[in-house]
Amino acid sequence: MTKPIIVINFKAYTEAEGPNALKLAELCASVSSESGAVIAVCPPVSELGAVARSVNIPVFSQNADPRVPGSSTGWMTPSMIKASGAAGTLINHTEHKHPMKAIADTLELCKGCGLTTIACADTVELAAEIAQYLPNMIAVEPPELIGGDVSVTDANPSVVENTVRSVKSVHNSISVLCGAGIKTGKDVRKALDLGAEGVLLASGVVKSKDPRASLLDLVKYI
Ligand code: G3P
Repeated sequence: MTKPIIVINFKAYTEAEGPNALKLAELCASVSSESGAVIAVCPPVSELGAVARSVNIPVFSQNADPRVPGSSTGWMTPSMIKASGAAGTLINHTEHKHPMKAIADTLELCKGCGLTTIACADTVELAAEIAQYLPNMIAVEPPELIGGDVSVTDANPSVVENTVRSVKSVHNSISVLCGAGIKTGKDVRKALDLGAEGVLLASGVVKSKDPRASLLDLVKYI
């Protein structure tokens, strides 16, 4: 997947429930095509297939579980994510964590299905540990900054730089993203200057009074 990448996680915000998820994804697709920036979306699980089959930007599941098809009621199998038309999945978001073995098993299953993986980590150490299992990308997000108004790139730039250094020392092919409090094009620029190859954000777009204006601002300095 071409970098830099801006990944918008719709979480379970009411603003993205039902048909609103597709509307927001279409807005992201239109800003992506206007600007040339790579924008990916993570709609709520209930809308994953509807969005993945309708927009021509990468669509990611918000979660995947280490389960195979069959007797797995309520679990998100990598196989069903692939079949929905999604390009990939987040794994281990700080709001939906998994033990390390489950992360490793899920990454393996995703690889088998050809899904692109973004594993989330809330510390440099966890990012380095997950890197051993070779996700395509690792997103570092200090939980205390999530949903706030101060970007990780201002509040804790060293967590971004140190994650890039640690992850690349395990495997150079893994791209590092950062997230938490990112809302503006300046935040995105700073993330890239710190060595990240993209950002993962939510409230800056989903909760914005003017999501289109926020998206246009986010891609301004790429
Ligand atoms: O998944 C992205 C997220 O955890 C960061 O949220 O609202 O701080 O951009 P936010």
